[in-house]
Amino acid sequence: MKVEASAPSNIALIKYMGKSQTQGNLPANSSLSYTLENLRSFVVVEAGFDNDTWAPLPGFAPISLSETGLNKFLSHFQFLKQHWHIPGGYKILSANNFPSDCGLASSASSFAALTLATYELAKATHWDLQESPEELSRLSRAGSGSSCRSMFSPWAQWSSEGAEAWDCPVRFEHAVVIVEGEKKAVSSSQAHQRVNSSLLFLYRASRAEKRLIELKVALMKQDWPQVYELCWSEFFDMHALFETSSPSFGYMTGETWKALEKFRAIWREHGDGPIVTMDAGANIHLLIRSEQTKKADEWLHGFKVIKSWSE
Ligand code: PMV
Repeated sequence: MKVEASAPSNIALIKYMGKSQTQGNLPANSSLSYTLENLRSFVVVEAGFDNDTWAPLPGFAPISLSETGLNKFLSHFQFLKQHWHIPGGYKILSANNFPSDCGLASSASSFAALTLATYELAKATHWDLQESPEELSRLSRAGSGSSCRSMFSPWAQWSSEGAEAWDCPVRFEHAVVIVEGEKKAVSSSQAHQRVNSSLLFLYRASRAEKRLIELKVALMKQDWPQVYELCWSEFFDMHALFETSSPSFGYMTGETWKALEKFRAIWREHGDGPIVTMDAGANIHLLIRSEQTKKADEWLHGFKVIKSWSE
């Protein structure tokens, strides 16, 4: 028997950084994300093995998992097997449809896809099993916090009660400017712990909650300059936590700064431009309205880019 599933990645506009509880990945503050349907992970689970193993899924750009990454992935599978009372050993095959060496985080999409594939396996064993997206999201969160938002599309809000869809009519195209393809020196799991040492973390949750409310209003009003300003201050807030941790760390490179300057200059000049945000990495994510894609091709000229639209 063989089951398969796929799940998208997501980019947070209000960031999840810092945990109120490590067990089960409970966030220190609410977050809001846009689902990236074009950046996906695929998981196939094959039955009939003595124990649980992992291998790259053929037909995609090959990925290699670190020992910690592999253990985390298999532990999540075993947690799900236990939860749904699934017996036996399995071979898990997984891959992403984006290159693994481009510095794009794949934990959200891969853990969400693993949760969905294991759910398929559970349904094959227990035919009457039916879980809600909220419950699947809660289970996925145990593997990787940000993956809980990938169960909803296009908008997801994750608060202390769990993640849920946010009903907003705004749709974006997405581009990521790849300035760095190296593996990160500080993983996001380490970052979640280290930010506790920053003095700026003291009022971090209240800043994020306030921005979340303001951003939702700005998005509903389609007030793009306000959306841009809020998203800009939010990713700098997260990167400031990194830089003020003890020991400090950071992800931005000279190339990141150059690109950020360029996008800010577009706004300064035209009063409009891309919505800019960053993850815990050096690359820059842009959200672009459909009527801006032609212009965006000009803005992105000369950069290495993965984008959701074709020219
Ligand atoms: O899911 P994790 O533990 O890899 O957390 C990643 C959190 C960020 O990507 C840095 C921000 C976010 O909200 O997605």
